[in-house]
Amino acid sequence: MIRFSDIRSAFQFYLAGRTIYDIHSPLLFQIIEAKRQRNNTAIWEPIEAIRREYLNDKNVIEFSDLGATSRVLHTKQRTVAGITRVSVSPPAQCRFMANLAARFTAKSILELGTSLGISTAYLSVGNPKAQIETIEGDPSSYALANALFDRLNCSNIESYNLPFAKYISGLPKEKSFDIVFIDGHHTSEATLQYFDALESHFTEGTIIIIDDNHWSPDMEIAWETLKSKSKVLYSVDFFRYGLLIWGTKTQASQSFSYIPFACKPWRIGLFDQRS
Ligand SMILES: C[S@@+](CC[C@H](N)C(=O)[O-])C[C@H]1O[C@@H](n2cnc3c(N)ncnc32)[C@H](O)[C@@H]1O
Repeated sequence: MIRFSDIRSAFQFYLAGRTIYDIHSPLLFQIIEAKRQRNNTAIWEPIEAIRREYLNDKNVIEFSDLGATSRVLHTKQRTVAGITRVSVSPPAQCRFMANLAARFTAKSILELGTSLGISTAYLSVGNPKAQIETIEGDPSSYALANALFDRLNCSNIESYNLPFAKYISGLPKEKSFDIVFIDGHHTSEATLQYFDALESHFTEGTIIIIDDNHWSPDMEIAWETLKSKSKVLYSVDFFRYGLLIWGTKTQASQSFSYIPFACKPWRIGLFDQRS
């Protein structure tokens, strides 16, 4: 169901939206290039073939939800097709994250929220040299994800069937991540807690992706709070998700809401349109 807050949030995003022609930072340009990059689609096809298979899979699994209650799936018994349709990131987002993992030569990636393993498989294929850790609390989803990793020979993934908090509290002090994808338990309280607990594992230039940053008014609060953290250098809002870059500040932080040029064709950069 579409709520009034969804429409307001989309409208505000559109008004704030800037295109690639408004970017002046080389780092932000790299990020937007990863978003616009169209790779040879053949490399993603084996993953997308499994997504199509799952979209037709009417098998029912018992789902234990450790996160925020879904706005669409309300029962514990869920079909694989339903989970794939509602919970799994779309191809464009998965491709973008995989492109980031490759472009920024990420060595170590953490994903909170594996679900069926589709986004994880993209990260794995995008950068086979990265070590990927992915965490899932629901045992049935965890089992399906591991079956997918085996089918695709994703050997650079370590998956854990644990609550996020338990995994994070067991992390060795020296462990650091180049990319962190927080895609589960979408409440502001939980998101901020996981983020704070992970901060000591971020390093200069760590990219943190917050999924569903406009999912609810409560998640808007989390997103605004995270953007204003003293070590967030850049925030880029893609509406479905937001991206933060962590590091030591040498200048004021920059926030950018990205929309494709086709959505605001008059922002073609012929004039200085910075506002
Ligand atoms: C949106 S889905 C992840 C989708 C996946 N990243 C993708 O794009 O394909 C979120 C997952 O996080 C898991 N989850 C939510 N809260 C959790 C928690 N506190 N601990 C462990 N897993 C949790 C849910 O079981 C769910 O499968």
